[in-house]
Amino acid sequence: MGDGNTMRVLVTGGAGYIGSVAATALVERGDEVLVIDSLWRGHRAAAPDGARFERIDIRHRAHVEDAFVRFRPDAVLHFAAATLVPESVREPMLYFETNISGSLNVIQSMLETGTERIVFSSTAAVYGAPERLPIVEADAGRPINPYGESKYAVERMLAATSEAHGLAWAALRYFNVAGATATLGEDHDPETHVIPVALQVARGERRAFGIYGDDFPTPDGTAIRDYVHVVDLVDAHLRALDRLDDALGPINLGTRDGISVRQIVAAVERVTGSPLPVSVESRRSGDPPALVADSSRARDLLDWEPRHSTVDEMVSSAWAWMTRHPRGYDDR
Ligand SMILES: NC(=O)c1ccc[n+]([C@@H]2O[C@H](COP(=O)([O-])OP(=O)(O)OC[C@H]3O[C@@H](n4cnc5c(N)ncnc54)[C@H](O)[C@@H]3O)[C@@H](O)[C@H]2O)c1
Repeated sequence: MGDGNTMRVLVTGGAGYIGSVAATALVERGDEVLVIDSLWRGHRAAAPDGARFERIDIRHRAHVEDAFVRFRPDAVLHFAAATLVPESVREPMLYFETNISGSLNVIQSMLETGTERIVFSSTAAVYGAPERLPIVEADAGRPINPYGESKYAVERMLAATSEAHGLAWAALRYFNVAGATATLGEDHDPETHVIPVALQVARGERRAFGIYGDDFPTPDGTAIRDYVHVVDLVDAHLRALDRLDDALGPINLGTRDGISVRQIVAAVERVTGSPLPVSVESRRSGDPPALVADSSRARDLLDWEPRHSTVDEMVSSAWAWMTRHPRGYDDR
């Protein structure tokens, strides 16, 4: 460990949407941070000024190991990944290489340098199409696409390495992440997440907001998902990092209160003050009507409670960021 209670934390993917908010929070609380990111889908400007930055592709073992040897981290927050389900179906090897080989390189480098703690970004995709709601951690293991397979494989790798070598790990399984801070927001290309897409329609950058199915067995007929504000999500990471004396294993991060697509449309209209053009399309194959998490483990193990994850706060913070950054990080 560094001075007092500060830590040296290596953040992979710290130039991405969630990783940049986490790296910034670590710097703000006084930790020493090294961000490694290939900038494939991140932005140099999103990584905090107070952190070191190295442009490294986690698929290259020697580069990753070298960064570990020089920085000697106490802990790792591992966000770097390929993250789009449809792309994973089209290009599975890209997902296995980036997410599985890349994570293997990170874990091997930890073992080489005696780094014992890791918090891994996992996903609801490890559950596939769950049979019951809310989803509990034990329901995992039947992913239905290469993205989910790749993330679940990394969880298994962490569990085995922990067994064999005493690695302390947590796999935080996010459902849907949304919202922005005053300085950091979502700037993906392509953008596929529901809230920024709806806001791009509100800004006139897209013609209409597609609602994929309004005949689901849900109260308003549209699909329900469990959204967490990125600030709440990052708070859970810091809590996990500070409690990683032992293996914590998989932990769901959700609110249990799902939000429907129609509720997002209504929030966008409230926040922007204008009606949102929508077009109702047919359901996408494999899209379950509802996905909501039981987060009792997060409450019990991390003493975590989401505080900012109302639909209005997520939409209004994302809108404020987009209004201040009309061209995103403007580095393309
Ligand atoms: N955003 C969500 O709703 C959500 C939900 C569930 C899980 N997750 C997980 O959270 C993590 C972060 O997601 P995000 O939304 O911030 O994604 P993001 O694409 O904004 O960030 C990922 C970052 O990883 C970097 N990266 C990708 N491949 C790399 C490589 N080979 N080497 C080095 N860097 C590489 C990218 O350049 C980018 O900066 C991912 O692991 C994702 O699977 C996200």
